[in-house]
Amino acid sequence: MKKVYVGMSADLIHHGHLNVINKARELGYVIVGLLTDAAIASYKRLPLIPYTQRKMIVENIKGVDEVVPQETLDYVPNLRKIKPDYVVHGDDWKRGVQKETRRRVLNALKEWGGKLVEPKYTAGVSSTQLFNTLMERGITPNKRLESLKRLLDIKPIIKVMEAHSGITGLIVEKTKVAVNGETREFDGIWLSSLTVSTSKGKPDTEVVDFSSRFQTIEEILEVTTKPIIVDGDTGGKIEHFRFRVRTLERLGVSAVIIEDKIGVKRNSLFGTEVFQEQDTIGNFCEKINEGKKSLLTEDFMVIARIESLILKNGIDDAITRARAYIDAGADGIMIHSKEKDGNEIMDFCHRYRTFENRVPLVVVPSTFSYITEDEFKDLGINIVIYGNHLIRGAYPAMIKTAESILKHKRCKEASDQYCMPIKEILTLIPEDY
Ligand code: SPV
Ligand code: MG
Repeated sequence: MKKVYVGMSADLIHHGHLNVINKARELGYVIVGLLTDAAIASYKRLPLIPYTQRKMIVENIKGVDEVVPQETLDYVPNLRKIKPDYVVHGDDWKRGVQKETRRRVLNALKEWGGKLVEPKYTAGVSSTQLFNTLMERGITPNKRLESLKRLLDIKPIIKVMEAHSGITGLIVEKTKVAVNGETREFDGIWLSSLTVSTSKGKPDTEVVDFSSRFQTIEEILEVTTKPIIVDGDTGGKIEHFRFRVRTLERLGVSAVIIEDKIGVKRNSLFGTEVFQEQDTIGNFCEKINEGKKSLLTEDFMVIARIESLILKNGIDDAITRARAYIDAGADGIMIHSKEKDGNEIMDFCHRYRTFENRVPLVVVPSTFSYITEDEFKDLGINIVIYGNHLIRGAYPAMIKTAESILKHKRCKEASDQYCMPIKEILTLIPEDY
């Protein structure tokens, strides 16, 4: 019997998939190469349904004889192993981002004389469309909460962008770019204390209190589906922190990062230019521990942020604290620095690598901004947070617009040079959103 290979994600099964499988059945023994969660997340979002469940579903589709994992978007490793007589795929991949994947399939098939069969793409239904419709209806708090840990399990590095309002949340949610056949997007949302405070015209000193921060979080939750990491500042008093993590967990936030400072918090990027005081290891460990104890789920993460490098207390202190915070139950460590060369961050990462008891490592490269995500990955970093870039991008454009109107005593120049068209702003947010 001829061997037929069908690669698919099968996250949302529809009759288009069944048409492809029916075609494959006519040709022989059907092996479905089911993309693993990591393979899917490497070129688009985390699948809604985890691999083991998708496998169970696909195995029970009439006409499917076998399901094997496809570990990469690229079919070639599986094809070389299986050497199928046929590969069946809808003809839609002749165009768009999958063109390169198709070309590689054709080349591989030539090695043993296999054939590519491309039934006409089933019009009017697409998983992406279904997914988008589903996502526009929102996501449950539980699903969103657990998605950060799922991402950490399968992605070598997670990219998180700051948001401080509904509109910036939407930008993080929806911005996509296609590069070399791969669609890139952010994996999660950072609720920065700096950008939330700045957008309210207030300093980043915890003066914007958590009642107000919760309102911003709600605003963003309302219009997004991606996991959220909240900047918890110092976490406040231990007694209050316990309540705060509970509320965040109930809302569906995935993690809070608290920094080991006490007293009036100043932004880390001031470094030692202003007075900032580091907490004792004992007190901060108690805060982490109390926070963890008050949680209801295994999925919510309390991430401990170490300020030793910011306060010039040295790398040994940072390492000692990392060990202590992990022992106290921290689910992740964020190491911060304001040095541009990134050397102290790299030194920390090399030493952190030797820990037996490691938890995910987070960085916010506002100053060591030249380091790429791939380089961070090689350093053993799991989450990179772009902490303030949307507000830093927007503010200069707003200033230019305001200045132009004052200068020209009319708004034509500003409209033409710095503003989006009126038609676009009217429809940017659909009325039936
Ligand atoms: C924030 O974004 O608010 C942060 C990171 O805490 S930093 O501004 O570098 O302190
Ligand atoms: Mg902050």
